[in-house]
Amino acid sequence: MSETDAAWAALHAAAERARVRRIASLFQEEPQRLERLTLAASGLTLDLSKQPWSLADLEGVMDLARLAGVEPARERLFAGETVNRSEGRAALHMALRAPAGAGFKAQGEPVSAEVEEVRGRMRAFAERIRSGALKGATGRPFRAVLHIGIGGSDFGPRLVWEALRPVEPAIELRFAANVDPAEIAQAMAGLDPAETLVVVVSKTFTTQETMTNAQTARAWLRAALGEAGDAHLVAVSTALDKTRAFGIADDQVFGFWDWVGGRYSVWSAVGLSCAVALGPEVFDAFLAGGAALDEHFRTAPLEANAPVLLALAHVFNRNGLGRPVRAVVPYAQRLRLLPNFLQQLEMESNGKRVTADGRRVAHGTAAAVFGDAGSNVQHAFFQLLHQGTDVIPVDIVAVREASEGDPAAQKKLLANAVAQAEALMVGRSEADVRAELAAKGLPDDEIAALAPQRTFPGDRPSSFILLERLTPQALGALIALYEHKTFVEGVLWGINSFDQWGVELGKTLATRVLAELDGGPAGAHDPSTAALIARLRG
Ligand code: F6P
Repeated sequence: MSETDAAWAALHAAAERARVRRIASLFQEEPQRLERLTLAASGLTLDLSKQPWSLADLEGVMDLARLAGVEPARERLFAGETVNRSEGRAALHMALRAPAGAGFKAQGEPVSAEVEEVRGRMRAFAERIRSGALKGATGRPFRAVLHIGIGGSDFGPRLVWEALRPVEPAIELRFAANVDPAEIAQAMAGLDPAETLVVVVSKTFTTQETMTNAQTARAWLRAALGEAGDAHLVAVSTALDKTRAFGIADDQVFGFWDWVGGRYSVWSAVGLSCAVALGPEVFDAFLAGGAALDEHFRTAPLEANAPVLLALAHVFNRNGLGRPVRAVVPYAQRLRLLPNFLQQLEMESNGKRVTADGRRVAHGTAAAVFGDAGSNVQHAFFQLLHQGTDVIPVDIVAVREASEGDPAAQKKLLANAVAQAEALMVGRSEADVRAELAAKGLPDDEIAALAPQRTFPGDRPSSFILLERLTPQALGALIALYEHKTFVEGVLWGINSFDQWGVELGKTLATRVLAELDGGPAGAHDPSTAALIARLRG
């Protein structure tokens, strides 16, 4: 047995021990527990003490991180080596948020100067739009941005905007991702083309949804402004030949690079719409928050490293305790899109069943992630979290100080976040429920039927992440925390977290089906698919 296999075996043994004890009991047995499992990183506080591991288990799990090579993998990542082997690319999103003068290299080639150059163009562009120096085709200033993109070209900017937007913005920002025409119709509704900048974001500039929406937006601009409307179109892409072919002048294009993965791209010019609508200084602060977390991840020892510990907690649940689903519940309305963002980040990065050299993985990989804003979801899926037959670990993200509104309401929100984590772990025993019902004078047969239904098994784990305020820096740190957590998990599972071959087949088949829906010859399909196509053609 290799040392790594032995460390995996130790994790499984630790998980077996965790099955037969309660998380809450560990606080008595381990006086250091809370202190050891509370971490500070770049303004974020993480409490991982409500996870099922004991401190002794944690040491063993830490050995797994060491033996699986998290430290050298981290070095290779930051050194810009070809960590995305199937596509022959580096994954160097950290270079996008590094302070000016950083010396990042992707596959040996210096990249920081180019990054800085595009960042400078973004800043200048955003300032010119915001000051009104750059006007639309009819001489009116821009008052709205329509951001068109999907997947990594959408989730990040949408999350950043929702998290940081002013309640009444001077520049409105709308998004259209879905090829469903309903979304862009709603996004354009009420906007004046003469005052709207359209930012088309696509790394490849071939994505069906984005190109369809870009054509719709261009037609909308031209219908109102004629050919001059094209001046309202800006592109963000790595494919200059394709942006040119679409008719967007090179000086209206903001580039990025093949070493920026789509789901890691919000830090690049993909965030241009946010820089325009929020202001370049806000976007810079967001980058600084990500950079601070990078520094923490790169330099903190594994035992005190927030992304490493968050990843290990996930692996302990996912692999040790066989829990293939995780919930993420931001107790902050402004962070309600965090779970959507994490669905792509974690499930597209680590939803893999073979290793980087093509062998079947030895362990279960990414858990399915779902979630939405608390406290709303307490009235939706928390019933299942508390009393369902499956244990679903939860990440609770809370913000101490509200960005706006009534501080008393904010206190209620925080009380709910804390109480839910407590209820999940502590639960409520049947004996306690029985005593309460008996005190109310209920007959024994009713108590026997009711008490089990009103019992909370507890012992359901959660991680608690606290932000002091939802500043651009804190948001940047939070997103970078999850990016690096995802990377660490990929290293532990031995997979390439930076490719996404699993999205290709559906795209290819959709092209074929579309040709048939358009009246082309019927192709070879299974009977169910053929029947659906026939029905939709009719
Ligand atoms: O979902 C597949 C994917 O390739 C993502 O990885 C990417 O973020 C998204 O499509 C959009 O791609 P593009 O930016 O090239 O339009």
